[in-house]
Amino acid sequence: MSSPSTPEIVTIVGARPQFIKAAVVSRALAEVGQVRERLVHTGQHYDATMSEVFFEELGLPKPDCNLGVGPAGHGAQTGRMLAAVEEVLLEWRPRAVVVYGDTNSTLAGALAAAKLGIPLAHVEAGLRSFERTMPEEINRVLTDRVADLLLCPTTQAVEHLAAEGITRNVHQVGDVMFDAVRLFGEVAARRVDPLGKLGLKPGEYVLMTCHRAGNTDDADRLGQILKAAETIARSVPVVFPVHPRTRARLTGWPLLDAKGLHIIPPVSYFETLCLEREAAVIVTDSGGMQKEAFIWGVPCVTMREETEWTETVDVGANCLASAQADRIVQAVADHRSRTDPLPDAAPYYGHGQAASRTAALIGQLASI
Ligand code: UD1
Ligand code: UDP
Repeated sequence: MSSPSTPEIVTIVGARPQFIKAAVVSRALAEVGQVRERLVHTGQHYDATMSEVFFEELGLPKPDCNLGVGPAGHGAQTGRMLAAVEEVLLEWRPRAVVVYGDTNSTLAGALAAAKLGIPLAHVEAGLRSFERTMPEEINRVLTDRVADLLLCPTTQAVEHLAAEGITRNVHQVGDVMFDAVRLFGEVAARRVDPLGKLGLKPGEYVLMTCHRAGNTDDADRLGQILKAAETIARSVPVVFPVHPRTRARLTGWPLLDAKGLHIIPPVSYFETLCLEREAAVIVTDSGGMQKEAFIWGVPCVTMREETEWTETVDVGANCLASAQADRIVQAVADHRSRTDPLPDAAPYYGHGQAASRTAALIGQLASI
């Protein structure tokens, strides 16, 4: 139970995966009861299917404040968020700020807190692709540099920080997305039935997503990805929930009517969990979905040159296929012919303890 003297923290979120991560940590914070949490939504994601649906499904409290920043170029979007978050923090004067992952909302929240001298916790610290052309890599490196509490999902994340000279207040807590799958997987299966809705059979379809700017904003790469989707769909149905960034680039592509290719709007988290669990293979450029595939024991093909989640590749659960149609198609065929079970993901991601460890450490940060 919190009292008026309970320290207050502010969590800053703005993009789809952050609502999912914050949902499990918010629950754990409420259980620990050491702090009172206020939630700021930057408005980076704003469609109902990209935002509201997650608050409803996951029981995440409505944001105390929505900054309504919306889409813009990187500088303008981050700058507007920075100014707006700063105003909120000046008014609320929290004891700590929590940011998640590597989006522009993360960086804006981190800079606002750091410049006001408010202790900052970064959940999902230490991830690196070593690819500076990725906007997310810049956001991660800078956020980690100014964070006071670095909550790492994996051993490798801790090592990356050490290599950059960051060793104080670094904790390997596990991955809160692993906890989310544990927490919501069963309830999702009881509440929604996307396979029934789409007429799919368990184990007899491929789930595909694509939203990385490096893929969607390069016509050659996007063309290869769509060619791969269409080729795979000739032998097995492909379900492709399309992110709005990608949707905006699809107008005029002739392949989208291909038989067996289900191009659908973004689905809810519960629907995603069900579609992931029963998929034969997941083909994606999403960070979160590479891990979720591993957690479910479903093989993954990642349409990038590198990944931050290298353990998935090291154990053979994930294969990097770039955005080359022939490599993607071959990797899917290889995965489909496999009979060996994938290793258990739990030892890599903290056995479901990440959210409670995270909440306890945030509680300590806010109580100093
Ligand atoms: C952002 C993150 C990325 C993360 C992804 C999760 C950055 C730099 N990128 O990418 O790391 O993996 O979120 O999904 O922060 N749009 C809509 N409706 C929405 C949201 C977006 O139509 O609700 C459209 C807008 O035209 C916008 C475009 O999608 O310009 C891209 O959105 P943005 O939030 O800038 O980047 P994402 O690609 O979503
Ligand atoms: N997700 C979802 N609906 C979709 C696609 C993805 O709920 O249509 C979930 C997915 O289960 C994962 C998260 O969104 O938990 C990943 O977000 P995204 O791929 O947008 O971003 P990334 O993880 O790459 O930053």
